[in-house]
Amino acid sequence: MGDIEITRHGATQVLRFNRPEKKNALTAAMYTALADALEAGDRDPAITAHAFLGGDGVFSAGNDIGEFVASASGDGGVMQAIIRFVRLLPLVEKPMLAGVDGLAVGIGTTLLFHCDFVLASERATFRTPFLDLGLVPEAASSLLGPRRIGHPRAFELLVLGASFDAERMREAGLVNAVVPADELAPRILAVGEALAQKPPEALAAARRLMRGDPTAVSAAVEAEAAIFARQLRSPEAAEAFRAFIEKRRPDFARIRGA
Ligand code: COA
Repeated sequence: MGDIEITRHGATQVLRFNRPEKKNALTAAMYTALADALEAGDRDPAITAHAFLGGDGVFSAGNDIGEFVASASGDGGVMQAIIRFVRLLPLVEKPMLAGVDGLAVGIGTTLLFHCDFVLASERATFRTPFLDLGLVPEAASSLLGPRRIGHPRAFELLVLGASFDAERMREAGLVNAVVPADELAPRILAVGEALAQKPPEALAAARRLMRGDPTAVSAAVEAEAAIFARQLRSPEAAEAFRAFIEKRRPDFARIRGA
C-alpha cells in the first residue's frame, strides 16, 4: 500500500494520506498519486465524488520539508509534482469532500479551500506556516483564503501563521460541522452516498454554476507558483528548512545581517 491509499466506497473515491511516520507530509510521489486519482475519478462515470481523509489524529503536516530542500538545490521533479496538483485543484469536476482529524498544515489546509464540503474532528487544527518557512501562500490560497473566510481571518492564518481550531474554522465558514473523530469518515461517506443519489447532470451543472469561472483561481495558482519557486531558493527558506531539520527556531535576523 502506498503513502496515498485509494479506495472506493460506493460511488465515492477515497484518497487517504497514509504516511503516519512523517505525519502524512506530502512527497512528490504522493502529489502525483493524488493528481492521477483525481483525473481518473473525474473520467470514471461510476465515481460521483472525491473524499480526502488522513490518519488518526493527523490529516497532513503539509509538504515534505526534506523535498523542499531537494527542490531548492535543483531537483525539478518535486516542484513539477506540486504544480501539477495545485493546477488541477480548481479544475476538478466532481465534488471534493474532506474529513480532517488532527493536524492540517500547509497544503493540508489550503487544499480545503477547494473542497465543497469539509468536516473536522474536535481535535482538528489548521495552520499555514508559509511565511515562517520563507515561502508564500500556495494553491490559490492567497485568493481563495480571503474569499472563503474573509481577509482579516485569512491574513491571520496565511500571513501571521496563526493556528485555528476546528470551532474557529467552522465559524469562519470553511468547515461545515465539527464531529467526534470516530464519526468523521462515516459522515463524509454518507455525504458521498447522498451525492450519488442526485441526478448526475444536474449535480455537475449546479457545482459548475456555484464555483463559477476558474480562470482567476488558476491565475492565482500561477502567480503564487512563480514567487514560491523563487522564495524556495532564498536564504530565508534555506535558514527555515535548516532550522526544521536541526529542530531549532530559525534565526532570520542573522540572514538580514542584523
Ligand atoms: N516534512 C518532513 N517531515 C516532517 C514534516 C514535514 N512537513 N512534518 C513532520 N515531519 C516528520 C518529523 O521530522 C519527524 O520525523 P523524525 O521522526 O524522523 O524526526 C516526524 O515527522 C514526526 O514529526 P514531529 O515533529 O516529531 O511530530 P510533532 O507531533 O512533535 O509535530 C508538526 C508535528 C506537524 C507540528 C511538526 O512536525 C511540524 O511543524 N512539521 C512541519 C510542518 C510544516 O511546516 N509543513 C510545511 C508547510 S508548507
